[in-house]
Amino acid sequence: MPGSLQILLLVLSLRLPLTLGETVARDSIPGAWSLVQMGTSGVSAMQLAVTSETTAIIYDKVEHNPLGVNGEVVWAAELNFDTLQVRALHPLSNTWCATGSFLSNGTLVNSGGNPIVITGADGLQALRLFTPCTTGDCDVYEDQTRVRLTSPRWYPSSVRLQDGSILIFGGATTDVFINSPEVNNPSYEFFPPKNINGFNGLQIPSQFLVDTLNGNHFPNMVLLPNGKIFVSANQQAMIFDWQTNTETRLPGIPNGVRISSPFSASHVLLPLSPQNDYTPEIMICGGSTLSDTIPPSEISSQDPTSAQCIRMVLNGAGIAKGWSVEMMPQGRIMVDMVLLPDGRVMLVNGAMTGVAGYGDVPDQIGHSNADNPAFMPVVYDPNAPADSRFSTDGLVASTIARVYHSTATLTPNGTVMLAGSNPNNDITTVKYATEYRLEFFSPPYINVPRPSYTGLPATINYNTEFHLAVTLPADTTDVTVALMDLGFQTHGVHMDQRLVQLVSTLSADKKTLTVHAPPTSSIYPPGPAYLYVVTESGAPSFGHKTIVGTGASPPVDEGAIANMLANTSGPSD
Ligand SMILES: *[C@@H]1O[C@H](CO)[C@@H](O)[C@H](O)[C@H]1NC(C)=O
Ligand SMILES: *[C@@H]1O[C@H](CO)[C@@H](O)[C@H](O)[C@H]1NC(C)=O
Ligand SMILES: *[C@@H]1O[C@H](CO)[C@@H](O)[C@H](O)[C@H]1NC(C)=O
Repeated sequence: MPGSLQILLLVLSLRLPLTLGETVARDSIPGAWSLVQMGTSGVSAMQLAVTSETTAIIYDKVEHNPLGVNGEVVWAAELNFDTLQVRALHPLSNTWCATGSFLSNGTLVNSGGNPIVITGADGLQALRLFTPCTTGDCDVYEDQTRVRLTSPRWYPSSVRLQDGSILIFGGATTDVFINSPEVNNPSYEFFPPKNINGFNGLQIPSQFLVDTLNGNHFPNMVLLPNGKIFVSANQQAMIFDWQTNTETRLPGIPNGVRISSPFSASHVLLPLSPQNDYTPEIMICGGSTLSDTIPPSEISSQDPTSAQCIRMVLNGAGIAKGWSVEMMPQGRIMVDMVLLPDGRVMLVNGAMTGVAGYGDVPDQIGHSNADNPAFMPVVYDPNAPADSRFSTDGLVASTIARVYHSTATLTPNGTVMLAGSNPNNDITTVKYATEYRLEFFSPPYINVPRPSYTGLPATINYNTEFHLAVTLPADTTDVTVALMDLGFQTHGVHMDQRLVQLVSTLSADKKTLTVHAPPTSSIYPPGPAYLYVVTESGAPSFGHKTIVGTGASPPVDEGAIANMLANTSGPSD
């Protein structure tokens, strides 16, 4: 018996040669996960982005959060991971429900929002700039007379482009349960504004945003290694060439599943690696098969959600093959998909029944349109055999409901932080209450000997080489390098989240790692990144921060800015 077991283990440990479309082949550390609840977010974490090795920014909607003292209404904060202290930030306008993306120079752009509620300015056309600092006194810059969107955007998405600017896509002209022709803003724009394809700084129409009505809020968007953008919303998907303003439709979402708000699914670009020639493969999980034309009065918080996960390799052969379908252990809406440095994907948060939003369905729970919180996360290994990719081995369930307006992110240290949940107007203690408690999941890799390194340059330009001084656990024979964009999370959509494996060579004494920066700006767009050195058994180092590219600001076209300002009016004008 021991003999055959050994043979079995030997067979299992043999790696099959990589074929096109396969992602990074790497093991993961087995064992128990831990979950600790510590710290509070001060404002409810509707939007979340890691801004440095020790900080994250949290944007909420304007509401009576506990961080405000003496009657001050505070709706944004900076969290320090080491001290778990939160510091109030002061955007001027309502950030509900904005998107966010970092520029090539490291500034985070938060765009879109909501009309005035309680206090503050109308945020529908707002652009809010936040440049992370180490001095603990930086704040949000906002001046809609100078810097604004062309048009109102409630529930848009955004994506960082290969030139370091961002593209802001879709949304509605006001707050609604679901999009409709009356309030749709079927257009996109750039920040900084561009003079492109006949549009000088102004919004550009998108037929996709007309064709995907009604359930098309917070579209899923991913910059692809060919410089085009994967976009999916409702039941459709496309490849979008922003440089020529061309939309090319992809196979639709199978089996009647809708995948964008209020039928919120989550998406992830599976790891890009040199072994798979940076071939992109997209994965989308969850959603709902409800009709997007029935009124919310006919929807129930108990309606089932979709357990469907779909994958498609985005090259000619992959698109011809279409979506492959897998099933999560349970249906989920408003799930967050978080890439781990070992190449796996953690699916966490959300609910097993109902839809996104609050105050709309007749049998709402408190005010929530969804019920049966999905307390148990599941981890997906894209490289495992088809029938064993989902696993809850070693995982623990949370006891905190994280439904509408909740978030999750990987931290620089490799833990996964959960925050937020507030399916309510303003703050409340009814089920499901406004949630401020933070939770941190530690995958088993946190508690094993981990690599460490020094020497990461502040910027790493394309096609250059740099050297890290590494200290590896004793039994390490090889490592990989995961360069990660930790993204900007809201409503289950993780803007710009990305893992690019870099080519690296370990010296014979295993003390120096020579790393090749990403080959092109479409493989990793210029901007912030966290670099994890990962052992072959799946233990990651701390992810130190760098900026890919030169750290320069994205191109600025003063003519396009002037034309935009001349032809648009901000709400504060
Ligand atoms: C990373 O997390 C581990 C486990 O929680 C902790 O012991 C360690 O101090 C953390 N390191 C940093 C730099 O935050
Ligand atoms: C980054 O670029 C934007 C757009 O031009 C600019 O507003 C912002 O101030 C820049 N940030 C830094 C840190 O230079
Ligand atoms: C925008 O404003 C300029 C200057 O006032 C004007 O010449 C131009 O025709 C306007 N319209 C568009 C679509 O750019």
